[in-house]
Amino acid sequence: MSRLLIKGGNELNGEVTVKAAKNAVLPILAATLLTEDKCEIENVPHITDISNMLKILETLGSKVRFEDNVITVDNANVNKHNVPNDLAKELRSSFFLLGPILGRMHRAVVAYPGGCDIGVRPLDIHIKGLREMGIGVEESHGMMYCDGSRLKGANVLLDFPSVGATENLMMAAALAKGKTRIANAAKEPEITDLQNFINAMGGKVNGAGSSIIEVEGVQKLHGCTYRPIPDRIVAGTLLIAGGVCGGKVTVKGAVREHLEPLLFNLNKCTCFIDSRGDKISVISQARPRNLDKFETQPYPGFPTDLQSQMMVMMAVSEGTGVIVENIFETRFRIVRELIKMGAKITVKDRTAVIRGVKALEGAAVSAMDLRGGAALVIAGAKAEGYTTVDGVEHIDRGYESIETLFTLLGAEVKRLR
Ligand code: EPZ
Repeated sequence: MSRLLIKGGNELNGEVTVKAAKNAVLPILAATLLTEDKCEIENVPHITDISNMLKILETLGSKVRFEDNVITVDNANVNKHNVPNDLAKELRSSFFLLGPILGRMHRAVVAYPGGCDIGVRPLDIHIKGLREMGIGVEESHGMMYCDGSRLKGANVLLDFPSVGATENLMMAAALAKGKTRIANAAKEPEITDLQNFINAMGGKVNGAGSSIIEVEGVQKLHGCTYRPIPDRIVAGTLLIAGGVCGGKVTVKGAVREHLEPLLFNLNKCTCFIDSRGDKISVISQARPRNLDKFETQPYPGFPTDLQSQMMVMMAVSEGTGVIVENIFETRFRIVRELIKMGAKITVKDRTAVIRGVKALEGAAVSAMDLRGGAALVIAGAKAEGYTTVDGVEHIDRGYESIETLFTLLGAEVKRLR
């Protein structure tokens, strides 16, 4: 289990190019199962969620290659329909293999998925939608047994705009007989990217980015080469790091529209935002002023995946601020670790009250989930003295060598094996 050793106090200056978004690549890899042809996915970061997804595809019979940030998937010989438990528990996203496996094989067996410990993360919205599409779903002993022999297009209303459920249903519908209409669909950019990928394969999906997505099932889908959207959460993490530590941090390749709520909040914290072409910079020359309050919301609201990182910004800002986490019920596990570093934070249910302090102190802290872990690296880069962060395997799920990203910007971060 590796740890990070961080010497805090440096300003951050420099430019980092962000690669393809983890949460776009994962559903796109699942969607490659919908064709027997080869697919190529470009600009992919080497992170463990991706390598675990590739392992799952291989157990289903895919031939995969991952070289120089390009993934080649050949699904001609896919002949299995069950996702192994040991891999499914590593990866929440394994669950949205259900849709494409059903679309292709008309039956599927998937274990209840694992992933970040940020809440119960039930699957009721997925299951209700799949049943509306004629899929038989039996749950027993932590496994999901699905019969897709009567898979057909249907009208589905999601009780909550779940990202994963929207993606699962889009993929199940792509090859289903007839038309599917998903109401109250998630609007995240990664959903639009999945639509564009399925359409590049010859599918007929429309409406992604709005709350109504329509899919017309087709007989067959063909292979394609595709470059997914850049990772707005990695970009946002680095921009917040710049705001916290001071200096000028530029991310190249990010899409400004995907980051509007964050840029709005950073600007309110007295950071200067400069964006030209595909570069976005955050310039921070003084101690930030605290936000009064922000709430996490489904896109286009403030993303829950940047909540922990923004909490670090508020922990060192002038004044007191409030965060309300509306998406996941336990996404404040970082608070205990930040308090070890001298932060003044109280939590009640889904509300955190953060009284900014002038300085955090280096300490030994533990990453409990992917984004909380990345937030602790920001806190360590700001704190006085040395910080060690263990549980780095959580961070490696979504950041390609986080120590390299931060070192490129002038932080002192080492990975201790
Ligand atoms: C996706 O998770 C992302 N993961 C998450 O990113 C992200 O935080 C989340 O969407 C919200 O934006 C991937 O794309 C791989 P949801 P997902 O279904 O699909 C509840 C990261 O750090 N819900 O939109 O699991 C659920 O419990 C990860 O990269 C149900 O109640 O999120 C949660 O409270 C973390 N029943 C809320 O909806 C269901 O059937 C949002 O979940 C499904 C979800």
